[in-house]
Amino acid sequence: MKNIVILISGRGSNMQALVQAAIPGAQVAAVISNRADAAGLAWAAAQGLATASLSHRDYPSREDYDAALMALIDTYAPDLVVLAGFMRILTPAFCRHYQGRLINIHPSLLPAFTGLDTHQRALEAGCRVAGCTVHFVTPELDCGPVIVQGAVPVLDHDTAATLAERVLAVEHQVLPQAVADFVSGSLSIRGNRVYRVENTVDATAQLII
Ligand code: GAR
Repeated sequence: MKNIVILISGRGSNMQALVQAAIPGAQVAAVISNRADAAGLAWAAAQGLATASLSHRDYPSREDYDAALMALIDTYAPDLVVLAGFMRILTPAFCRHYQGRLINIHPSLLPAFTGLDTHQRALEAGCRVAGCTVHFVTPELDCGPVIVQGAVPVLDHDTAATLAERVLAVEHQVLPQAVADFVSGSLSIRGNRVYRVENTVDATAQLII
């Protein structure tokens, strides 16, 4: 059984999708937030999951916070750490410590629109397609090897909010898929590319690839 630790900062809808996917061979060992009032923490606790919060405000530096966060995470002996709406930039030491077992979901089709306000920026850039990416985390922000992406059309009447809602529905599909692929041991990283041991993607009919 692989232990998964999920980090959140707020609503936690991606965490919920992951928990509800009940991936064979995986168990959610803990849900941890940097904000004690994160709505997702209450939901996780109500499911009987272990939860913890560690406020970044209690630490003098990013390095100190990340060291404490690593110590907390490691009490759950994680095989995989999932950033599911964890809204903090991580130190290189943190990224190195979990290299190859730390993944993030980001609301854009990377490498386009790293950082914040991704949907507004996609609209302003005139994109016809938007989406989300699950990737391995490296020290460079939103730049690690891509595991899976999901795409949606951008519609003429879209606002950042309507586009975010359409993308979020796809996030809830691709995150469990990426975790299931990791847990089954079917992912390997070579350079900046992720390969599947058995590539079952239907090249003719996929928007989630
Ligand atoms: C999601 O859209 C996720 O992709 C994004 O925050 C949202 C969290 O929603 N993550 C980032 O922007 C990370 N850079 P959720 O709390 O409902 O899962």
